[in-house]
Amino acid sequence: MSDNVFPVPEAVAKAALVDDAKYKAMYERSVTDPNGFWGEQAQRIDWIKPFTKVKNTSFDPHNVSIKWFEDGELNVAANCVDRHAATRPDQTAIIWEGDDPADSKHITYAQLKDEVSRFANVLKARGVKKGDRVTIYLPMIPEAAYAMLACARIGAVHSIVFGGFSPDSLAGRIEDCGSAVVITADEGLRGGRKVPLKANVDAALKKITGVETVLVVRRTGSKMEMTAGRDIYYDEAAAAVSADCPVEPMNAEDPLFILYTSGSTGKPKGVLHSTGGYLVYASITHELVFDYHPGEVYWCTADVGWVTGHSYIVYGPLANGATTVMFEGIPTYPSPARFWEVVDKHKVNIFYTAPTAIRSLMGAGEGHVKKTSRASLRVLGSVGEPINPEAWVWYYNVVGDARCPIVDTWWQTETGGILITPLPGATALKPGSATRPFFGVQPAVVDAEGNVLTGATEGNLVILDSWPGQMRTVFGDHERFVQTYFSAYKGTYFTGDGCRRDADGYYWITGRVDDVINVSGHRMGTAEVESALVAHPKVAEAAVVGYPHDLKGQGIYAYVTLMTGIEPTEELRKELVAWVRKEIGPIASPDLVQFSPGLPKTRSGKIMRRILRKIAEDSFDSLGDTSTLADPGVVDDLIENRQNRK
Ligand code: WTA
Repeated sequence: MSDNVFPVPEAVAKAALVDDAKYKAMYERSVTDPNGFWGEQAQRIDWIKPFTKVKNTSFDPHNVSIKWFEDGELNVAANCVDRHAATRPDQTAIIWEGDDPADSKHITYAQLKDEVSRFANVLKARGVKKGDRVTIYLPMIPEAAYAMLACARIGAVHSIVFGGFSPDSLAGRIEDCGSAVVITADEGLRGGRKVPLKANVDAALKKITGVETVLVVRRTGSKMEMTAGRDIYYDEAAAAVSADCPVEPMNAEDPLFILYTSGSTGKPKGVLHSTGGYLVYASITHELVFDYHPGEVYWCTADVGWVTGHSYIVYGPLANGATTVMFEGIPTYPSPARFWEVVDKHKVNIFYTAPTAIRSLMGAGEGHVKKTSRASLRVLGSVGEPINPEAWVWYYNVVGDARCPIVDTWWQTETGGILITPLPGATALKPGSATRPFFGVQPAVVDAEGNVLTGATEGNLVILDSWPGQMRTVFGDHERFVQTYFSAYKGTYFTGDGCRRDADGYYWITGRVDDVINVSGHRMGTAEVESALVAHPKVAEAAVVGYPHDLKGQGIYAYVTLMTGIEPTEELRKELVAWVRKEIGPIASPDLVQFSPGLPKTRSGKIMRRILRKIAEDSFDSLGDTSTLADPGVVDDLIENRQNRK
């Protein structure tokens, strides 16, 4: 092999579920006989009514249709909770680690069953029925998992909105899916600071109608304003219902959840995942990608507001009867040693985080790591953005003491689970490469015309055929689903990512090739930030691009043209940043704002983003052809006043 290669550590190889030979054999079978392979793998799930058909999928843009196990019936909560409560009631299902290091608790599978059933009965008492949408806007507390599983238990479809989103963003998401119920907490707690969740819900509900119930979980206990008839404290409602609730039999293709995510155009779209295929895929990937062995403690540091939290804090691990850690806080509170102290405290064996966290902890120095033992760690994981080789090597050597493989897992909200990844016992690693496809996944690299390229090459990443965890549609807008993912390169699923494949067949994801930017592992549509900016009364026009950022991976660079007569000042710059925070949420705050009297446009009025990206990257020697610009002069001004001077 070329490059810098890290072989499978011997201790891991010995006990691993899958070695290299087995990977190759299973992969071959999974793509030549998907019906046989997935029909067998689906047996990891308990079915109320067994399926007779496995795969029925089409990527034909005239008829995109994705169905797996379509005549089977099951219930996700029965699989994630009840079956383990029956066989291992006293095993810890969830270890909750609070923001304050003195705050933690263990929830057993038996307790989880009671909590989920009670929550389900509260929802039922408020009129929630199968198929209804329920919006969840909670911090990282066990009630978030209870609420998700309670919805699954009664067949309601949850839509989680990350607690960092603004009232406006929340309102848009509640309205789009038509939830009559919102579940929130009085306040969240992160890094010692309070997050006003209930107040945000109140502000959101001033903008929309249709919400009849707001369930408020008490987290901090601060006094809240409660709207009579609409707002209820969860603990009071829970005290009035029983801890018994039957599970609703669901068709495999019934929806399980909606999760809004940013795309290159328009408003965030409601990615819809279904019940059977999603659960099978979350379960198999959690087990094999992390080489999960019964009894191990597994910790994914994501927030349940993102897809990683759905698949790899809640559904995958719990389907597998694992012990999953749920962390309320942040990596640097009370100190940058927090992650490793929690690893020691709960004897974590498998640890899964994002490159942005690794980079920031790396900046804080190895002392914070070295003072902890981390002897329990066996497997490390990375997700959300490309990991730069320096951060990878630091994670491997300093955190993992050069004995834990790193699984660099590439996937998306849309894919439901991990698609390209090493397997701990099977794959020699190369820092920065997500390596090889998971079972059943057929990646391909295409050029701009859609020709499938072979061998070592670089281009756009597409997937040639369906896998069970794939999203089924955009909620309420199937046409947008077809347009976004199946029209660029006919007959394939287009990921929006660029990628390189090396001579060993390893995949290296190079980042988004569309107008999506990835800030600290969070997806942000440039169009969303632009529309927030132009909503400001002093802004005439805005164009937003990503640029390389040492900690965040990508930063947000905004070019802003002000209304005639408005003075560009430092104060206004700050005001615009605060404005975007308020409109969308802190994760969308522009890092750099450049006031630009004009933007580079073609004669037909299209903004030439390629040029803006180059200038934001501070690499404008090769701007390419600017002769088609309506006014080539604007480029000199943009370069002159760039904000990202190296
Ligand atoms: C990026 C997160 C490189 C990619 C699970 C993708 C990655 C987007 C990796 C999806 C990785 C995710 N290496 N890039 N291991 N994982 N990405 O929907 O650009 O929040 O398209 O899902 O993150 O982000 P999303």
